[in-house]
Amino acid sequence: MTNDDATRRRAVEDLTIEEAAAELERLAGEIAYHDQRYHQEDAPEISDAAYDALQRRNKAIEARFPDLVREDSPSRRVGAAPGQGFGKVRHARPMLSLENAFSDEDVIAFFTSIRQFLRKDEPFKSDPDAPIAVVAEPKIDGLSATLRYEDGRFVLGATRGDGEVGEDVTANLRTLKDVPHRLAGDAPAVLEVRGEVYMTRDDFLALNAARQAAGEPVFANPRNSAAGSLRQLDPAVTASRPLRFFAYAWGETSARIADSHWGVLERMRAWGFQVNPETHRCAAIEEALERHRDLGRRRAELGYDIDGVVYKVDSLAFQERLGFVTRAPRWAIAHKFPAEQAETTLRGITIQVGRTGALTPVAELEPVTVGGVVVSRATLHNEDEIQRKDVRVGDRVVLQRAGDVIPQIVSVILDRRPEGTQPFAFPTVCPACGSHAVREPGEVARRCTGGLICPAQAVERLRHFVSRDAFDIEGLGEKHIAAFWADGIVRSPADIFRLAEEPAPLVGREGWKETSIANLQRAVRARRTIGLDRFIYALGIRQIGEATARLLARNYETLEAFRAAMVAAADETGEAFHDLDSITGIGTSMARDLVQFFAEPHNLEVIDDLLAAGVRVTAVEAPQRVASPIAGKTVVITGELERMTRREAKARAEALGAKVAESVSKKTDFVVVGASPGSKATKARELGIRILDEAEWLALAGEN
Ligand code: IVH
Repeated sequence: MTNDDATRRRAVEDLTIEEAAAELERLAGEIAYHDQRYHQEDAPEISDAAYDALQRRNKAIEARFPDLVREDSPSRRVGAAPGQGFGKVRHARPMLSLENAFSDEDVIAFFTSIRQFLRKDEPFKSDPDAPIAVVAEPKIDGLSATLRYEDGRFVLGATRGDGEVGEDVTANLRTLKDVPHRLAGDAPAVLEVRGEVYMTRDDFLALNAARQAAGEPVFANPRNSAAGSLRQLDPAVTASRPLRFFAYAWGETSARIADSHWGVLERMRAWGFQVNPETHRCAAIEEALERHRDLGRRRAELGYDIDGVVYKVDSLAFQERLGFVTRAPRWAIAHKFPAEQAETTLRGITIQVGRTGALTPVAELEPVTVGGVVVSRATLHNEDEIQRKDVRVGDRVVLQRAGDVIPQIVSVILDRRPEGTQPFAFPTVCPACGSHAVREPGEVARRCTGGLICPAQAVERLRHFVSRDAFDIEGLGEKHIAAFWADGIVRSPADIFRLAEEPAPLVGREGWKETSIANLQRAVRARRTIGLDRFIYALGIRQIGEATARLLARNYETLEAFRAAMVAAADETGEAFHDLDSITGIGTSMARDLVQFFAEPHNLEVIDDLLAAGVRVTAVEAPQRVASPIAGKTVVITGELERMTRREAKARAEALGAKVAESVSKKTDFVVVGASPGSKATKARELGIRILDEAEWLALAGEN
């Protein structure tokens, strides 16, 4: 036996530091070789189990010797990152979500707005009520995934993630029998097929029965079960779970697939994908609504969960014209089935304090199953809501749960109100810090005035800071944050980064061992560099959600520019405020919340402190750097255009990489002026900004 062989077999605990370093080097090379055989050449040499054993050994050695983790370690590579979850994949085209409709009226209104949007095109120009052909598909209740094929071979599979960046679950998706490894027939050289990973109800029940027998926790519903099964670090586990896949959309393709959505689905079927058999092409929306009624009636017989019907405009030419709003296409809508309801007893009402101080009442319920999930808490929104419904502790209530939405109390069953109940008295002091809780005129929320002294707000801010869409620090859950805060270990966001460098306070702490400390250090270090969009979101500014944060990041590009602009915007009559306020999607009240946040010296200190603790904020990648003459330019569109509606022109400009603003300022690059323009055109002339007439604009936008 050579020395090398001997090392290879030694228990991890027995390795010396030199042996461990050599072994990690060997494992990095060996795993990379097998990754190549498996992913690129489709010709694995070793079994999945043997491959996993290599990964596990690598991980175990790294856990024992965190200082030896190599730059090229398999645990850092996309494809498999044990201990830290999966590698990240930036989607070539974003993975979108859908707008929801809850009634036939919502759907009709949606299609009316599509006709309105396209009213300058035939057939809508001649007949504003012309029918629109759509494809109606069941909305599968699973999780979406994207499958990338190059030259007909499956090379990369990812989850949706935040729509822009997902997780690399290639090895896991490869184990699904509905995912072809090679495509049948002729396919574009690059092809991304998207669809839903799901589990049938029977398979879900059988899996749960087996888990129960083995003393393992059971899944709440088929969807959680599918998600849990796909996101396994060990693909062998995924392989043992009966997951399936329906194809219904696509991402990047190197060649046009068809002229209609229906045509694309037919080609997908021919390539070997499962396309849902309940999919129908409908000549007009009435027919599609009938599909919704029909599927609603037959929902229970399908064998898998669906939560509505998706309608997609069939013509891809129309789809292209319609484009997208922030995160959803303008050419599709999900018509949801009514939410499932259940009856239960309200045991109590507790008050939660959010990161902005808002007091939210929460219903504590007798646990009840609704829509396949056991619910014991529901939101009561705010004090007006409690008063309006006259919800009292002890009442029988109707509870509702729709999809991912937080369960809600719909109504009180007054006939069944027990004797002696009292109307709920909403607290006027913060339950966490005792400060006054006040309601500003015009606001629905009562807010704690404790600000920086309120522990609940501080903990919620930190939780938000590390949450998935913000800094996404794995392994730093709610409980840890609350406990670290209480013990003074983490009081401000920068403390998290300092703790990673100086973990002394964790040593000897209950529940923290060498490995878990090393894992936390690694998770924190991995997030020291962050995109400006996530950074802005992480700050937890009132009203600034993910989409708005992204918008701001794209507009200001760097943290320095953003920060300087927000500080300068304190003067509402100045240019900085005007610029902020004129970003499409930023309203005046949001602009004020931003200004207020940056006017608070403590918040600026928090940012400085983060930078001092080693956080690096990077400029966000523009969504798709389009090579167009108006990319990166700021455009204002005013007056009535002949060939496209203003809404369409705006969408087109954004698709070409321009920023569209609502009002003219010195920063405006072009003003597109249609018929009967107003003051915006005058202002543009005054400021000497380039004015385009419709023909010039169409030429720039690539229309002739
Ligand atoms: S299309 C470009 N079609 O619903 C539009 N989505 O609420 C992309 N879903 O994230 C989505 N069945 O996970 C589409 N037939 C279907 C679907 C479907 C289920 C899911 C999907 C998506 C979510 C949006």
